[in-house]
Amino acid sequence: MSTTDLSEICQFIAADLDAIESKLLEKTTSHYDFVDLAVQHVIEGGGKRLRPILLVLSAKACGYEGEDAHTLAAVTELIHVASLVHDDVLDEAPIRRGHETLHSKWGNKVAVLVGDYLHARVLSMLVARRADDAAMRILSDTTQAMCEGEVIHAYKNGDFNVAQDDYLKIIGLKTGKLITASCEMGAMLGTEDLETIHAFTEYGESIGTAFQIIDDLLDLVSDETKLGKESFNDMREGKLTFPIIYTRGVCTSDEKGTLERVFSTEADEDWAIDWITKLLRRYQVQEYCVQIAQEYADRAKAALVGLPDAPAKTALEQLADYVVSRDR
Ligand code: IPE
Ligand code: IPE
Ligand code: MG
Ligand code: MG
Repeated sequence: MSTTDLSEICQFIAADLDAIESKLLEKTTSHYDFVDLAVQHVIEGGGKRLRPILLVLSAKACGYEGEDAHTLAAVTELIHVASLVHDDVLDEAPIRRGHETLHSKWGNKVAVLVGDYLHARVLSMLVARRADDAAMRILSDTTQAMCEGEVIHAYKNGDFNVAQDDYLKIIGLKTGKLITASCEMGAMLGTEDLETIHAFTEYGESIGTAFQIIDDLLDLVSDETKLGKESFNDMREGKLTFPIIYTRGVCTSDEKGTLERVFSTEADEDWAIDWITKLLRRYQVQEYCVQIAQEYADRAKAALVGLPDAPAKTALEQLADYVVSRDR
C-alpha cells in the first residue's frame, strides 16, 4: 500500500489549491460581521480539501486547465462543509478539524442556519457561472442524495441490526455522491466522451466507499489529536458503522450481546471503550476494514486504466491508496 502523503500528491496543483482557498473565502463573504465570523470558523483551515483536489485532478486528467474548475471545486467544498456543520449537530460532535464545532460554540440554531447559508452561496455561485450545464443537475441531485443518506442514517440511529448491504447504500449516498460528483464535474470540464466520464463516476463511487469505511475505522482506532474530531463518537451516538457491522457477524453470541448493550447504552464508559478495542483486535477488524477499503481503492484505480498517462492520472491513483492509508 502506498503511503504517499496528500501534500506530496498535490504539490503540482498547489497554485490551483491556493486559488480555491481564495475563492472559498471571497464567495462566502457576507454583509454581516457575525455571519462572516461563523462562516470563517468552518471554512478556514484543518480540512483535507479532498473533494476540490479530486475535481481539479479529474479536470486536468481530461485536459482542462481553466478557472471554472476552481469555482466548481469551491462549490464541492462548501457543500461538504455545510454537510459537516449539520452532521455535527446530528452527531452532537464537540470537535471538528481540530476546533470546537460551530454548534458547540454558538448553538444548534446558528449551526443549522450557517449550513443553509452555505447552500445558498453554492446556488448563487452556480447561477453566476451562467452555465446551463450538467453541473447544476449533478449538484442538486448530489445535495439531495446526501441529505437522503443522512436522514436514513439518522432514522436507523440506535438500530444494531442494519444489514451490511443497506449500510453500503447509505454511505454511497451520504459520502459517495459528493465525492463522485467532484470527479464527474472535473472530467466533464475537459471531455464530453461518455465512456471517460463514466470511468470517473466509477472511480468516485469506489473511493467514496473506501473513504467512509476508513472514516468509520478511524473513529474506533485513532485519537482526537490525529483525527481533529472526537473518536468513538459513532458508538456514543448509536451510529452503527462498517467495522461494527463486521464484528457483529464474526464474534461469539456472548460478545455480540455485550456489543449490542455497549452500542445501545453504555458506550460512554471507559470500560466499554477498552472492551471494544480488545474485541476489534481479537477479530482483526482493522485489517479487515483496510483490506475491504483497499479492494474499493483498487477498483477505483482500475476504472482509470483507459486514460492516457499523465501526472493527474498518477495522482488520482495515488489518492485512491492515500484514502486507505490515511490516519486523519
Ligand atoms: C469527513 O470528511 C466526513 C465524511 C464524509 C466521512 P473528510 O474526512 O473529508 O473531512 P475534512 O474535509 O478533511 O475535514
Ligand atoms: C458524515 O459521516 C457524512 C456526511 C456526509 C457529513 P460521519 O458522521 O461518519 O462523518 P464524521 O466522522 O462526523 O466526519
Ligand atoms: Mg459525524
Ligand atoms: Mg465518521
